Amino acid sequence: KNVIGVGLLGMGTVGRGVYRILTENRSGIEQKVGVPVEIKKILVRDTAKNRGVQLEEGVLTADVDEVINNPDIDIVVEVMGGIKPALPYALKALKNGKSLVTANKDMVAEHGKELFEAAEANNSDLLFEASVAGGIPIIRPLKECLAANRIQQVIGIINGTTNYMLTRMSKEGLDFQTALAEAQALGYAEADPSSDVEGYDAARKLAILASIAFNTRVSLNQVYVEGITRITAEDISYAADLNYVVKLLGIAKESEAGVEVHVHPAMLPKTHPLAPVDDVYNAVFVSGDAVGDVMFFGRGAGELPTASAVVADIMSAARSKLKHVPGLYNCTCFDEKPVKSMGL
Ligand code: NDP
Ligand code: HSE
Repeated sequence: KNVIGVGLLGMGTVGRGVYRILTENRSGIEQKVGVPVEIKKILVRDTAKNRGVQLEEGVLTADVDEVINNPDIDIVVEVMGGIKPALPYALKALKNGKSLVTANKDMVAEHGKELFEAAEANNSDLLFEASVAGGIPIIRPLKECLAANRIQQVIGIINGTTNYMLTRMSKEGLDFQTALAEAQALGYAEADPSSDVEGYDAARKLAILASIAFNTRVSLNQVYVEGITRITAEDISYAADLNYVVKLLGIAKESEAGVEVHVHPAMLPKTHPLAPVDDVYNAVFVSGDAVGDVMFFGRGAGELPTASAVVADIMSAARSKLKHVPGLYNCTCFDEKPVKSMGL
């Protein structure tokens, strides 16, 4: 193969970032992969909409078959979001022998099993680094670099929108709706921001992290979820007077009794390593029996940080296509374990 063809499903915040990185860093990416990585087609709803980047004539399409059935496309990148039609498109792409890269935590958290089975059955890669904590490398480090450990706990600030909102409410005294409107304008929020503010986006990410950390399958409905909708600037100010900050945390722990998973606002002492993580930044604090404590920190949402993780996955999938070692990074070996929302 002398070129790797990429097809995008979606050209919104993340898709545009993917396009920009693949275009602006083209030569470095080619050097690292070994051959050029080229976007062949991009699925959108409205092909006439201005995308804010210089696109080649005819690259946008409203016909999904031009992406998932296209023989020139090796890797399909799903950055459209939601379950329908993203899931059927993703499954069809895998069945057609394409590798799949996705940033879609809803789809991975709720249909990971189906997707991994399809990837395995078709000898394809399924990579989803951007689905948790945007630009922060966390899926691959947890799955690989920390693989030797028995992981005891994962505690994370894993939603950029709510962390940005809590920061703005705390530092500027903004009210909830104004802070949310700012996060939406910056491209951090989901198409339906209730999943951010009600904690479901963090819960999906926690289900993914816990599944990998504890080598089991944790589903969304096993996670206790409480969002930030009842938090006011006043609550945050009272907490500050007591030397605490308010953060939306995702907490996953494993003990002999099983796995425990919950997402809710919490008061953290200002001395905790997660306390200074502000704005759109996310952080994931992991404790393992061998490594001790490690913390991953960076931008948890936004165009280029998220696209950084997506493009790295594209490059891994490209290398694996070129070297004929598909599925190297797929998550397939899971143990059945008792999982509870709270307090085992
Ligand atoms: P956007 O809403 O900005 O973009 C979605 C894109 O998908 C649009 O280009 C839209 O087309 C296209 N699309 C949606 N539905 C369809 C459909 N039925 N047929 C064809 N095209 C469709 O989303 P984001 O880029 O923000 O997010 C994409 C994914 O990445 C989501 O899963 C999200 O959770 C995830 N993610 C987002 C992050 C962020 O910071 N924004 C960070 C990490 C993950 P059109 O433009 O024509 O409407
Ligand atoms: N809406 C999500 C967030 C995007 O704010 O964290 C990144 O997954």
